Amino acid sequence: MLLLARGADGAGSTTALAQGGIAVALGAGDSPAAHALDTLLAGAHHNHRAAVRHLVTRAPAAIARLQAQGLDFDRDGDGLCLGREGGHRAHRIVHAGGDASGARLVAALARAVRAAGHVEVRGGVQVQALLLRGGAIAGVRLRAASGRATMVETGDVVLATGGIGALFAATTNPAGADGSGLALGLAAGAAARDLEFVQFHPTALAVPATAASGGALPLVTEALRGAGARLYDDHGRRLMAGLHPLEDLAPRDLVARRVWQELRDGGRAWLDATLLGDAWPSRFPTVHAACRAHGIDPAVARIPITPAAHFHMGGLAVDLDGRTGVPGLHAGGEVACNGVHGANRLASNSLLAGLGFGHRIGCRLAGAGDAAPPAGGDFAWAGPGQAANADALDRLRALLWHALGPVRDAGGLVEAQRNLREDAHACGWQGRLASRLVEAALQRGGSLGAHWRGDAE
Ligand code: SIN
Repeated sequence: MLLLARGADGAGSTTALAQGGIAVALGAGDSPAAHALDTLLAGAHHNHRAAVRHLVTRAPAAIARLQAQGLDFDRDGDGLCLGREGGHRAHRIVHAGGDASGARLVAALARAVRAAGHVEVRGGVQVQALLLRGGAIAGVRLRAASGRATMVETGDVVLATGGIGALFAATTNPAGADGSGLALGLAAGAAARDLEFVQFHPTALAVPATAASGGALPLVTEALRGAGARLYDDHGRRLMAGLHPLEDLAPRDLVARRVWQELRDGGRAWLDATLLGDAWPSRFPTVHAACRAHGIDPAVARIPITPAAHFHMGGLAVDLDGRTGVPGLHAGGEVACNGVHGANRLASNSLLAGLGFGHRIGCRLAGAGDAAPPAGGDFAWAGPGQAANADALDRLRALLWHALGPVRDAGGLVEAQRNLREDAHACGWQGRLASRLVEAALQRGGSLGAHWRGDAE
């Protein structure tokens, strides 16, 4: 098996940045059924119910597999430490290394991959196109960092390329989450689903994005609000008081819109997590370091925050086994959409979905053995084509943030479509993908989950 990656050992992936952890119903009084209900409530019941059932019932097994692979989750006495995040009505989030869960997870999986004799890893490569024969996958063309292009023949390709957050001006995602896997799948003829559903995290650190961070804003994990931190406006008034029974732990879309509204109206928004005091460096080392790097001591000062694009619920339409409609093309993780997250993903369900459905894809393909490339039919290359130039990409990221951000309206979406058409040449495949997203948002005239049409309220 060949694993192709842009970075080495999972570096540069969104997973490595994940702070929140993995949701699993292990606590006293909790149950997979309660986890499923919270998943459906957050997802505005737009979820694929069988996928939700699979997700929540297999969560304990996913955790056990990771532990067997050497991932140490944070413990509380004899059991695992269970935190709480937005939309969860129970303590059910496991973490590793406090808020370094994603980095620890990627490190454990990279160790397991290195130890597995049957996996060859090629890092630093970019897949440029898929080879189809008679409409089925026959191979991939890739380009190494040296610029050398090579081709690999295969009958099966699994896309696990992440989401689209980097197409937005404000994002928690790394530069590689640019939708290239989605564009590749679409070019090969795979269908998309739920493209309009983009989740905005309410609390990214409101600081200028730097080139060193690849344009991403540091995430300020929701687990802080689970630990008692609260949101405030400039005048010290609670932002979420009275807006939802869960207040600061309301589903993410609600909190993100409230913060967005405050900033739109000229105010600022703040997270007060000073109650953690001296526990900051040990409990939330990643956020603590990010704040200190920007001159903020969160043990004594409020943290300035902004919403930012965080997760794409939509993606390549797949069944529960990760099959796209193109023979031999499979997809898992954020690039795929089997409907499990509905219109708005519940916090800490994304690593779980990647693990649970990724395991299903792996077991299925391992059982089937290595697929030979198809024997008959015409050959055709399918790739996204020319990429946007740097200036056009900046324009596109600003345009999507304004038109396709936490609050959308028909006027803004129509204008965005016009601008994308006029800028089509410079915007390349990112422009065509952005246009598909905007079109999906236009088609859904009413609000649902994370897709909020201000003109429909
Ligand atoms: C967070 O830590 O706030 C994000 C968790 C998630 O995206 O599920």
